[in-house]
Amino acid sequence: MCGIVGYIGKKRAVDVILKGLSYLEYRGYDSAGIALISDNTAHIYKAPGKLSNLKEILSLEKEENINANIGIGHTRWATHGLPTEINAHPHHCNCGSLTIVHNGIIENYKDLKPDLEKKGCKFLSQTDTEVAAHLIAHEFADTKDLLKAVQNAVKKLKGAYAFCVTHKSMPDRIIAARKNAPLIIGVGEGENFIASDIPAIIEYTKKAIYLSDNQVAEIKTDSIKIYDENDNLIANKVENLPFEPIALSKMGYKHFMLKEIHEQPDVVRNILIDKIKSEDLAVVLDDVKLSKEELTKINRIQIIACGTSLHAGLVGKYIFEELTGIPVDVEASSEYIYRNTIADKNTLVIGISQSGETADTITAIKQAKEKNSHILIITNRKDSAMARLADSLLPINAGIEVSVAATKSYMAQLLSLYLLAIYTAENIGAKENNLVKEIKKELLTLPSKLETILNDTKNIENIAKKYSSFKNFIFIARGINYPTALEGALKLKEISYINATGYPAGELKHGPIAMLDETMPVLAVLNKGIVYDKVLSNCEEAKARQAKLIGVTNFIDEKHKNLFDDTVIIPEIPDIVSPALNIVVLQLLAYHISEYLGKDVDQPRNLAKSVTVE
Ligand code: G6P
Repeated sequence: MCGIVGYIGKKRAVDVILKGLSYLEYRGYDSAGIALISDNTAHIYKAPGKLSNLKEILSLEKEENINANIGIGHTRWATHGLPTEINAHPHHCNCGSLTIVHNGIIENYKDLKPDLEKKGCKFLSQTDTEVAAHLIAHEFADTKDLLKAVQNAVKKLKGAYAFCVTHKSMPDRIIAARKNAPLIIGVGEGENFIASDIPAIIEYTKKAIYLSDNQVAEIKTDSIKIYDENDNLIANKVENLPFEPIALSKMGYKHFMLKEIHEQPDVVRNILIDKIKSEDLAVVLDDVKLSKEELTKINRIQIIACGTSLHAGLVGKYIFEELTGIPVDVEASSEYIYRNTIADKNTLVIGISQSGETADTITAIKQAKEKNSHILIITNRKDSAMARLADSLLPINAGIEVSVAATKSYMAQLLSLYLLAIYTAENIGAKENNLVKEIKKELLTLPSKLETILNDTKNIENIAKKYSSFKNFIFIARGINYPTALEGALKLKEISYINATGYPAGELKHGPIAMLDETMPVLAVLNKGIVYDKVLSNCEEAKARQAKLIGVTNFIDEKHKNLFDDTVIIPEIPDIVSPALNIVVLQLLAYHISEYLGKDVDQPRNLAKSVTVE
């Protein structure tokens, strides 16, 4: 979602900001802009579409206008108003002295607007942000102090925001504020940075201050002052940033998505280290801050998440219920909120989020926290807002994921859920049995099985090419692989824009089958196991309606050899662990279809990697 970059120091601000914005492109955006202060003038440049459009405008500009050492930049993901130049950030007050870039939604902007209009403000855009620009400008007219103006203004704003403000009469400072949207301040020497996320600044500094909700910061070349919600100056807490610039390279792969798919064997190895030493030893999970006694009292689990993380949660339900016998509900965060959810101190609430910044999940977690449930967060960003809400924090350590379509983080989330379920089962004594042992053994061999698939993708590439012209797709599976079908369909629609839907295979005959003919391929995920024959029957039903059939399976017998038009055979694996293997085939299939169609694989239209608005 929107990306913010601010710079103050000795470098050419335009270079630092444009580079920073390019590293935030993965967040998703549809217009971009920058404000630079030079010669006591704010120079504002904006363009709809990609960052390259903004760069082109800047390349035509006179050097003296853009040769500034202070500036703020923005990539906008439209919420209020079309992605046009006028709605792009930075926004400004009527005289153009004050500029602002903002991420979030100012919910009471319609209430504030009439009063500002009465005071003579002229609104140019349809955005909520412009209200903040005028509001702060009015406060500035009274106080003549930019920090004070922002401090006064934020007390009148409702909703979510992370923003940076400059004023042409104060070219020695940027004021930043945050509430329910991410913002970090990169600490440099003789220079400082502000950004929505680490990639924008990691090239310049490895030290940062994570601004907390309701804080306001005054950032100058050689000082950073942070104020709390009562405008009291508080101590700076400087932290080390968690990754290296190298993580942002494609390492020779054509796209980040492909690189991240191929990283999965190492992601699995990394997550298992020190946690499963052998099938005979208990899982070690120091991150779980529940005593054995507390774990034993857990009588209900709720998993809340969005998108791909939600699909990981659905797999988690099968694993948990099988291994622990504890009932598990899985719900989209946006549905969990704004109703009276039933949870108490004996409920374990698991929030899953790659980014740790998804607004719906944060709201859901806060709601669950009020019920005194233990909050366990599974995230790839231990520096995120969600991580800070956790009673127990399970970082998945998958490394930064740049492609909007999540792949390796899904794998790491699945692995975390296996570990957590086994740990719970072993601690509450639910299953002292062979299944737990078998899963541990299988997890240890998973990396090499993943490599078997990844080392030879020719068949998947050919299938991708063959099916890339279809406009619709159905994915079916049953049991623990039903979420695999959902996730496979999501991957395909996200990056190829092909209409793909996942169904429980048994549901096909209750409606979706009406859509089947030779124009609707059906991809079936079927593993040797309890539902194998049932899925085969569902495939026969599809075949009888002339649907083209693709099978992703670890077993195909002679009798069914001709049932499928195409098959991908994966290594032997027990049903309960198979989602972690099957999904890689579906990720590769979606990737190659998208790539073959020439789509923007890493930055699909309309999507954002980190959805910071509800
Ligand atoms: C966005 C992304 C998805 C992601 C979802 C949840 O929609 O495009 O890829 O699955 O958010 O994100 P989270 O960071 O909470 O896992």
